[in-house]
Order: sequence, then structure tokens, then C-alpha cells
Amino acid sequence: MSNLNRLVIGISGGIAAYKIPQLIRLLKVNGVETKIVLTPSAFPLVGEDALRTVSANQVYRDGLVNYDMDHIRLAEWGQKLLVCPATANTIAKIAHGIADNLLTTLALSFRESQIIVAPAMNTVMWESRATQENICTLKRRGIIVLPVGFGKLACDVTGAGRMLEPEEIVSYVLASSKSDETLKGKRVLISSGPTEEPIDPVRVLTNKSSGKMGVALAREALIKGAEVTVVSGPSNAVFPSSVCVRKVTTAQQMHDVLHEEFANADVCIMAAAVSDYRVVNYSESKIKRNESGSITLELCPNPDIAATLGAIKGTRILVGFALESSNDESLALAKLEKKGCDFIVFNRADKALGLDSTSIVILGRNGFRKAIDCTDKSVAAQAVLECVVSKPGR
Ligand code: CTP
Repeated sequence: MSNLNRLVIGISGGIAAYKIPQLIRLLKVNGVETKIVLTPSAFPLVGEDALRTVSANQVYRDGLVNYDMDHIRLAEWGQKLLVCPATANTIAKIAHGIADNLLTTLALSFRESQIIVAPAMNTVMWESRATQENICTLKRRGIIVLPVGFGKLACDVTGAGRMLEPEEIVSYVLASSKSDETLKGKRVLISSGPTEEPIDPVRVLTNKSSGKMGVALAREALIKGAEVTVVSGPSNAVFPSSVCVRKVTTAQQMHDVLHEEFANADVCIMAAAVSDYRVVNYSESKIKRNESGSITLELCPNPDIAATLGAIKGTRILVGFALESSNDESLALAKLEKKGCDFIVFNRADKALGLDSTSIVILGRNGFRKAIDCTDKSVAAQAVLECVVSKPGR
């Protein structure tokens, strides 16, 4: 169930602002009290009196007497900030930490994990590289960005960019505020991202893992009340601030840190794409081009970290990921056995590596099988953590 009782809604200057009184009413029916903040461009688009009446609270905007402290007071009062509609301009300001009005100042005063953004704009603006990069920045920092709808827009164009309908926004907001505490008191250890094996001072052996699945798993474990530690290989992944992140580079370092943390863990999820090999002879100086032909690198195996953890896991739950290039699930089942995992998450490299979405099949003992096709990594992560909690097949 949702624990959301107090929500600040920041309205920026999109025509969809006229739908916000209905949104407030729907939230009220679901037990959520709202306080409203208007940007200067939203002010002419929606009636302040209507907002005050339906929210039963004062409406906040720039230029009012208490402005200096409002952003602090509102951030203390609200459990979440919903920016809705969020224009391309307001999204860009939030992505860059610009605080030039009450709403954007407020966005800096909330923790990123408390912010939800419902974009609304013209299709070309939505698809522009600038907006898409800003959206990626928000998501990387843990801000929830709701999808946009497709249809006829206020500018008469048909395409992507419509704000979701109030009913859909309410269900997303309530769902994102669920906290079931099923992992309260549990310590969840996650390995994430690629590893890097140095060849010489300028070259490495690595892979295309982005760490996005690790971030999604960490976020979902936090939502379930767990204490979360991530051992992360080199990546640009940004983890929620309450996660303890231990950065490593090589597979051997990841092995050592994971073993150290495993002693205190209840659950370990091996989402990292670990390099199976490292070079035998690291070259202290840059390897020069061989003008007369090819060169050979000799590689030796790295430890299979998951298997070494599986061998000592005791009552802990161990989840592995099997990254394959075919649909053959038996390859994943063989890894489940070999590494002593409780569950193995089968995924295909071409449908997962580096992407926001993935298709997974969670395989467990006694024939347990759950497939989730083409979904956001956060939904896949939820499903993995549900298995950790309910332990089907064990
Ligand atoms: N893994 C590990 N140590 C390694 C390689 C992989 O701990 N040296 C873990 C991964 O984090 C993942 C699981 O083992 O949870 C399966 O990894 P994957 O790359 O799919 O398989 P490999 O065991 O490396 O086998 P192969 O490369 O032959 O498919």
C-alpha cells in the first residue's frame, strides 16, 4: 500500500496545467493532501482560486511575501514533489541544478529519490537531443520520470509528448510511494557494472555493461527497506545516496570486496558483468604497434566470483545473472547449478546490455520460471526482489 499523505505539486507552463485541479481531486480521494507551487509561466494557464479550493491549501508562487523560506518549508512538509506538467525548460533547469524560481529551487531542496516528473511538450521538443539527455540525467540520479502519452497535442501536431491523464499519473505516483518493508533489517549486497582488466597503461579489457540494472536493483531493495551495499565496476551509474557504494576496477578486486561484504550480507545479487579473463603479462609501457603483423595477448582466468560465494553461502540467498547470446535457457540453468545460486536471471546481451529496458526469465529451483518481456529495468528489478522475498521453489 502507498504511504503517501503529503505531496507538493509543482506546475510549470504547459497547457496541460488545466488538468491539475482534477489531479488534485483524485489524489484527495486516495488520501493525499497537496500543496501547489506555480512557476511564473504556469500562473496564467490555470486558475489559482481553483487550485486553492480543491487543494484546500494556499497556492505558492514567486513574488509572494514568504518566498525566501517557502522552498525549505515545503520540502519539509512534502513527502514527494511531483512536477506536472514538466516543460522542457523546467526539466532542463532541474537537470542542471538551476534554481531561478520557487519550483526549481524546491526541486533542489527535495532529495532526488523524492521527485517525480510528468513531462508534457511538443513532439519535436520531446524528441530533441537536449531534452532526451536531460531526461537521462534525471533518471540516472534516481528521479522518477513518467512516460509521455501519444496523441494530438495542443500545437495541433500528433505525436509523443502529451502529459499522461490524471488517473494514470495518480496510479504511478501511488505505486512509486509503496514501501512494503519486506526486506527491513536485511542486508542486500549487489555487484554491478563491468570490470576492467588493464593491458597496458592506456588499454583495458572490458564489456558494454552500463550498471543500469545494478542501480534499478539497489533502488528496489531500498524501497523494500533493505540496507544496500553495491560493489560497482567502472561505470557512470549513479546510485541513490543511501546506498553504500564500493568502487572497484578489476574482477580480482570485485572478488575481494564482495567476499569482505558477503560475511555481513543476507542476500547477494550478482548483476555485474565480470571479465572472465585478465592478461597474463601487464605491460608497464604502452604496447607499440607491431608493423610486421598481429600481436597475441595471453589471458588467464579470473575467479568465478558467484561460484566462490555459492560455495560458502550458507542460508544467504544468492542470485546470479546469466548473460547469453541465444534463447537457450538451459545455459542459464547450468549456471544456476554450477554457481550454487538460488535464482538465475536469464537475459540476452542484445536485449539488455547498456539499455534502459530488458527481457528476463527468472529461473529457480524445482522448476520455478517467471518470464518478463521487454520491460523497464526497474520492473525487472522489482520481479527479482519479489523472488528474493517470497523464495518460490526453495
Ligand atoms: N560471474 C562471476 N565471476 C565471473 C564471471 C561471471 O561472478 N568471473 C557471475 C556474473 O556476475 C553472473 C554469473 O556469474 O551473475 C553469470 O555470468 P555470465 O557472464 O553470464 O557467465 P559466465 O559464468 O561468465 O560464463 P560464460 O561467459 O561462459 O557464459
